[in-house]
Amino acid sequence: QVAAASGHTVVLVDQSDEILKKSTKGIEESLKRVTKKKFADKPEAGAEFIKKTLKHLTTSTDAASVVHSTDLVIEAIVENMEVKNELFKRLDKFAPEHTIFASNTSSLQITKMANATTRQDRFGGLHFFNPVPMMKLVEVIKTPMTSQKTFESLVDFSKAVGKSPVSCKDTPGFIVNRLLVPYMMEAVRLFERGDASKEDIDVAMKLGAGYPMGPFELLDYVGLDTSKYIIDGWHSLEPNNPLFAPSPLLNKLVEEKKLGKKTGEGFYKYK
Ligand code: 3HC
Repeated sequence: QVAAASGHTVVLVDQSDEILKKSTKGIEESLKRVTKKKFADKPEAGAEFIKKTLKHLTTSTDAASVVHSTDLVIEAIVENMEVKNELFKRLDKFAPEHTIFASNTSSLQITKMANATTRQDRFGGLHFFNPVPMMKLVEVIKTPMTSQKTFESLVDFSKAVGKSPVSCKDTPGFIVNRLLVPYMMEAVRLFERGDASKEDIDVAMKLGAGYPMGPFELLDYVGLDTSKYIIDGWHSLEPNNPLFAPSPLLNKLVEEKKLGKKTGEGFYKYK
């Protein structure tokens, strides 16, 4: 959405037409929200902006067949290294020489993905934040193999889509999630111990620390499955780090398919 809105030609790829239809509808709704604010006094210009943005956006269920005409691939699939590497390996065969590959991973090592391809120097991380149309930050991740030219292209692209880039080495969680995920897990542990209710913890962090959302609202927003993938991955890297300890409550909710806002229930109900 933000790439198309800033004039880039975008092909959105997913596994089925049904998912793509749902995604396109979500983008249209989000664009309406953005436009309502940006073009408050000029509804006609707003409608034109939406039309123009959607013109830049097409969809496909076959990544290999569309990658030949791309300068940049941004991967945002499931947080599973094997699945990501399989995709990158396949795309590497079909993508032009100059094409840069970037992962939007929240917590996995970019270096390992780059090593699945033959373009380690043209590989980096581009980590966006939910909701992407509103959150201004992008973390640009440089692995030891990422060339300076690639890094600069990723920084330029981030600016071109209206974001403020920061850079970080290829370390678990980069900057934001390395601080945010342990904080959210500590909130779950506080609740699990029965020290405070989830509602009070959320109110406390909003009114006492000025956060726009409390940790449970944010966990539901990000997705409990995504949060679990992150913490499980870090726990396997550092099993003795108490900040990375898995939570029985989070595991139970994920097992029950209560994944947060997207499934209608997580820590809270949204139906
Ligand atoms: N698309 C477009 N616009 C959106 C939107 C979306 N998806 N979501 C919210 N907005 C807009 C609304 O239209 C509204 O615009 P307005 O000011 O013109 O009315 C504005 O954002 C504010 O929205 P709301 O009034 O509905 O609610 P809030 O004032 O609470 O703002 C929020 C919503 C921007 C999501 C705010 O609560 C917030 O900043 N929350 C924290 C989000 C956060 O921490 N994100 C990081 C998560 S971590 C992550 O993503 C990393 C990953 O790797 C796990």
